[in-house]
Amino acid sequence: MQEVVKFIRSVFQTEEFIPLHEPRFWGNEKKYVADCIDSTFVSSVGKYVDRFEEMMALYTGAKYAVATVNGSAALHIALLMAGVKNNDEVITQPLTFVATANAIKYCNAHPVFIDVDKDTMGLSPVKLTDFLNEFAEVRSDGNCYNKLSGRIIRACVPMHTFGHPVKIDEIKQICDKFHLVLIEDAAESLGSKYKGQHTGTTGLLGILSFNGNKTITTGGGGMIITNDEALAKKAKHITTTGKIPHKWEYVHDMTAYNYRMPNLNAALGCAQLEMFDKFVEKKRELFNEYQVYFKNTEIQLFSEPQNAFSNYWLQSVLLKDRKERDSFLEFTNSNGVMTRPIWQLMNKSAMYSRSQCGPLENSLWFEDRVVNIPSSVRKI
Ligand SMILES: Cc1ncc(COP(=O)(O)O)c(C=O)c1O
Repeated sequence: MQEVVKFIRSVFQTEEFIPLHEPRFWGNEKKYVADCIDSTFVSSVGKYVDRFEEMMALYTGAKYAVATVNGSAALHIALLMAGVKNNDEVITQPLTFVATANAIKYCNAHPVFIDVDKDTMGLSPVKLTDFLNEFAEVRSDGNCYNKLSGRIIRACVPMHTFGHPVKIDEIKQICDKFHLVLIEDAAESLGSKYKGQHTGTTGLLGILSFNGNKTITTGGGGMIITNDEALAKKAKHITTTGKIPHKWEYVHDMTAYNYRMPNLNAALGCAQLEMFDKFVEKKRELFNEYQVYFKNTEIQLFSEPQNAFSNYWLQSVLLKDRKERDSFLEFTNSNGVMTRPIWQLMNKSAMYSRSQCGPLENSLWFEDRVVNIPSSVRKI
């Protein structure tokens, strides 16, 4: 383990503390943020929000992009746009950040947890099919019902873990067959593609996050992406308090949300996105360096799945078992190299402990073994 710490120090060329993931502001960030301050447009009005949305649509290949205060808000709204209602069920994976399950709960719906694949760390099409064949039934009203709970299964939310794309084409086919709306949690996977298509653009809606720990950041921020014009318009309306545009009148036509991204954050986002391709290049370069090193150790480095191009947001190693994982975490963190375990499975959190689950052997396997190691972009 001492050797691993030594190697990571050599990669980042420092004897100081090495964080897991640091943001980099090496482009026009100060210039654009200063422009907001000079113009006084730091809040909900200003040119950078529109610009950031246009840039993001262009980058991902989605027709429309709607900026939000964070990724959690984006997912909440995406689920509402997908028609998720009170007492519905939404399928997702237990191996995800808590925001995925929380957004389902914000809609007063119930998460159902299906296992992930060993090669993607994301929702497994095979396990999804098994679950639906056993429990689901599409009835004459066109809805998919869970025969066990009697509730409608409305949607399915796969998540592209640490930037590694899931097998989204297979998942899409299954969702179509069972009348489920597909929404992609692409919070971690800006820049990642499956069979050449950007993550988040296969489903009816996808969401991104620009939290401080992501590959690019707006401080806090998120984005809904979609090819559906009507949904994009609706999403914009519901995230901007449901205000009917007017020169001076304050008229609101629904109970909506104040989820709009402020101009200040969008300014940061525009500058960050200008640098993004370079960041991904550096992240993939870092993966290659780690790969050469870990090949000669007993620790396995997780690599991008077949047919996928990953942004390698967070590099992940797989330890032998939980005991090894814990000693690795203990050693690295007490020696100034920040590492973190993968999330506790969602069905083990108190608030989701009563949710229906399929068999979860792969998720449990990852939970015992995965550790993220320093993954920041190094000097360009
Ligand atoms: C998988 C996943 N979903 C949703 C979110 C929520 O994004 P935010 O932190 O911007 O609310 C995050 C990250 O933070 C995430 O990793």
